[in-house]
Amino acid sequence: MESYLKDEAYFEHISRKASTTLMYYENKLIAYFTLHRLPIEFEEAGTAPRDALDLARLAVAKEFQQLGIGTYIISHLRYLAYSINERYLTTEALYEKWKWYARRGFRYIFDGDIDPNSTEGFVSMVMDLFDEELLEDYFEV
Ligand SMILES: CC(C)(COP(=O)(O)OP(=O)(O)OC[C@H]1O[C@@H](n2cnc3c(N)ncnc32)[C@H](O)[C@@H]1OP(=O)(O)O)[C@@H](O)C(=O)NCCC(=O)NCCS
Repeated sequence: MESYLKDEAYFEHISRKASTTLMYYENKLIAYFTLHRLPIEFEEAGTAPRDALDLARLAVAKEFQQLGIGTYIISHLRYLAYSINERYLTTEALYEKWKWYARRGFRYIFDGDIDPNSTEGFVSMVMDLFDEELLEDYFEV
């Protein structure tokens, strides 16, 4: 946890390339996440790449895992995305974690990332905050 924060995250933060947020409990660092902007491309033909708010890192200290902190961070990210009216939240999930993200509103982008015989690699995931019903309501009025 610490070496990434010292060697990479702080520099990227003060260079304004990526933003890292630290969470403390009783003066102990218990979690952090890093956000930056990244273009995403979809498999669907003709879909132009566009920027997303990308979760580059997320970690919760071992002794504080399984308490809902990661879930809280994802809901906070959703709140941040809504506040800046961002459509997409993305992340490259470790294969072993992709279902954890899926249970929190992300979906995988590429079918090929999902290999039932694998436990390794990464899965590109997206949370789409577009609300089709709102648009339909808008055009109906
Ligand atoms: C992945 C990671 C961020 C999850 O963080 P976490 O704080 O343990 O996540 P949560 O506690 O919110 O969720 C984990 C489980 O705790 C359980 N849980 C216990 N109390 C909970 C609560 N109050 N609210 C929500 N979930 C709770 C849930 O069942 C959940 O499991 P499920 O999705 O399988 O049902 C954490 O395991 C981690 O840092 N791992 C190492 C680094 C890493 O893998 N980062 C992600 C790279 S893709």
